[in-house]
Amino acid sequence: MKKNNQAKVKISKIVLLFTFSVGVITAQNTSTMDKKVNALIQKMTLEEKVGQLNLATFVNENNTTNSLSEMIKRGEIGSILKSNGAEKNLQLQKIAVEQSRLGIPIMFQEDVIHGYKTIFPSPLGEAAGWNLETIEKSASIAAKEASASGIHLTYAPMVDISNDPRWGRIVEGAGEDPFYASLVASARVKGFQGNDLASGQNVMACVKHFAGYGAALAGRDYNIADFSERTLREIYLPPFRAAINSGVGSVMAAYSAYDGIPATANQKLLKDILRKELGFNGMLITDWETVRNLVKIGTAANEKEAVLQSINAGVDVDMTSGLFLKHIKELVQEGKINVDVIDQAVKRVLIAKYKLGLFDDPYRFFDLKREKETLMNAEHLEFARKAARECMVLLKNENQLLPLNKNIKKIAVIGPLANRKKDLLSWWGGNYSQWKPEEVVSILDGLKKSVDSSVEIKYAEGVKLDGFEAKGLELIPEAVKLALESDVVILVVGEEFSMSGEAGSISNINLPGAQEELVNAIAKIGKPLVTVLLNGRPFDIQNVNTKSNAVLEAWQPGTMGGLAVADILLGKYNPSGKLTVSFPRNTGQIPIYYNYKRTSHDVNETNKTVRWTNKYLDIPTTPLFPFGYGLSYTEFSYSNLKLSSSAINPNQSVNVSVEVSNTGKADGEEVIQLYVGDDVSSVARPAKELKEYAKISLKKGEKKTVNFILTPTDFSFYNKEMKWVLEPGSFSIMIGASSADIKFTEKLSIQ
Ligand code: GLC
Repeated sequence: MKKNNQAKVKISKIVLLFTFSVGVITAQNTSTMDKKVNALIQKMTLEEKVGQLNLATFVNENNTTNSLSEMIKRGEIGSILKSNGAEKNLQLQKIAVEQSRLGIPIMFQEDVIHGYKTIFPSPLGEAAGWNLETIEKSASIAAKEASASGIHLTYAPMVDISNDPRWGRIVEGAGEDPFYASLVASARVKGFQGNDLASGQNVMACVKHFAGYGAALAGRDYNIADFSERTLREIYLPPFRAAINSGVGSVMAAYSAYDGIPATANQKLLKDILRKELGFNGMLITDWETVRNLVKIGTAANEKEAVLQSINAGVDVDMTSGLFLKHIKELVQEGKINVDVIDQAVKRVLIAKYKLGLFDDPYRFFDLKREKETLMNAEHLEFARKAARECMVLLKNENQLLPLNKNIKKIAVIGPLANRKKDLLSWWGGNYSQWKPEEVVSILDGLKKSVDSSVEIKYAEGVKLDGFEAKGLELIPEAVKLALESDVVILVVGEEFSMSGEAGSISNINLPGAQEELVNAIAKIGKPLVTVLLNGRPFDIQNVNTKSNAVLEAWQPGTMGGLAVADILLGKYNPSGKLTVSFPRNTGQIPIYYNYKRTSHDVNETNKTVRWTNKYLDIPTTPLFPFGYGLSYTEFSYSNLKLSSSAINPNQSVNVSVEVSNTGKADGEEVIQLYVGDDVSSVARPAKELKEYAKISLKKGEKKTVNFILTPTDFSFYNKEMKWVLEPGSFSIMIGASSADIKFTEKLSIQ
């Protein structure tokens, strides 16, 4: 046997031994954990068990006999949400550990969606950076900060797919594509949980909202959601599967219903699909008051019935309704709930606490010194600036107006949002970590901090932005005057933080207030106009796009957003973001997304005058900006798409390669997208689906070959019987710079 083979054999034996021993250790740990948890459950009274299933909110602390502290002493609270700060939570933890009968630690939970004290771009924005390492690291920093402030679990990642920008929570997801949203879900779970949940540096993730919450009818939050099992499996489940396969510790059931049955009481969704099919064995919690909501929806006659339905559906923890605490004991005593079911739910809660190390050291997450050193430290802030820069999307750049020329000496910054702070943080950003205005860099501040003394920057509000009504039109003349005196105008428009996020639904996606009037007035004077969008969701920016020379989508960029915008406008960073959600031309186009299914009357791209198609008569059927779109300060060209074979059998993979060159004047990054279309299938399929992508850096003049591998699962789908199959036949392999800019298509036969 050759030497190197002997070495290989030796290495493989070591690996085998190591794997076996790790397996044994893990098994031992698991059995140790199981034994400890089972032993604890044996000691617990039924009331104490039910207490562990009760998630109470700190918001209603009222210092009565039923105050949080008194309930903790009685063992009636297993977890608390909305309580923040190492010092405050330490006090509550001491009560639980030292003054309750069994001393079971409390698990503190919070909505740390995209940062705790250091706020990163809102998730829909961050996703547009197509950088999973950045996404994982920002979640990891959020975890470091939250865990330093006494938080054990975060209600994130939110992975709801939505095609409706009227729905304010579209901002919390990763966009319209299930494949990419799954990769982001996994990255966020790994970032939050790290490699050691018990380290005190990480938090348990809670993937939400299971499932199909983003299908809210008419974009209205908490509204009816009606969709097929096929849509559930093809669109809504994949990111949850990815999160579960990445080891997410908990899942939150949605407010919404599936197939007419509210998720909280839906056995098919929670038991058959989540537990059995997806193999989730962690802690399942409800959303806020959704047990009580069953009575409001009318699927439970009373609160006691609602509790019975929720327990029977497999829910472990009741968020804030208090009804588990009120009714479970009675239901067990009446024989309607078997105490074993309660024991299983309690076990999942205690295992979560065990994995967090709370039984080893219940005070590990309450280190005041670490909290002070960790929150918003320089490293975190610098990374927030990086994350914000790389996810911004250059939508238009007429005559290369950007980056701003060095001869520009007078810059007018106009618009109510240019001088705002909280609107850079989004609905969720900073709410629970007591963010302060001086911590956040506005766009105006960012520009002022980034130019030298030779450049004069002046500001005019232009109009008021305070709700949806048109206000402050009288301010426009002053803004126009400033613009006339300047070399270039940077106009900042978009939405206030409260206009998106939870319960932030709007009936139309026009820019709120009198911002369009401001755009028109400024555009009319003919100065070079750069419009920066500060928004969580896509808006109708047809007018902005027509009248601006350049448009930068800055999203809700977080604490360092103003500096990130300045980095791009001043050329310190070449924008590399690409949209992960389609921008409709107007509200009437909603829902619109790239992965639509072929129809018998698709628009005839070569002859759009043909009447008999599914087009609109008044506007194009394409979005204003498509999924995967984004410009750069340089140009890229694509060549030589090659498949390793034009015909494979169903269990083979195929290598796809393409050459990409930077043919422009600046170094830059490009997101190359690989789409697959199943040309003939037993069930109607999307004309194209994203199956791979690569974000690469290319110096000016540089060329790289990018390789992808497509495996049989990339050609598979749910057939008529809802079985995951690959049907032989012809497939289209497409390489694009966006979903609407396909550079090459090659046919692949699978037989
Ligand atoms: C809210 C949201 C959910 C959040 C929870 C706790 O209603 O739907 O996303 O995590 O309640 O604040």
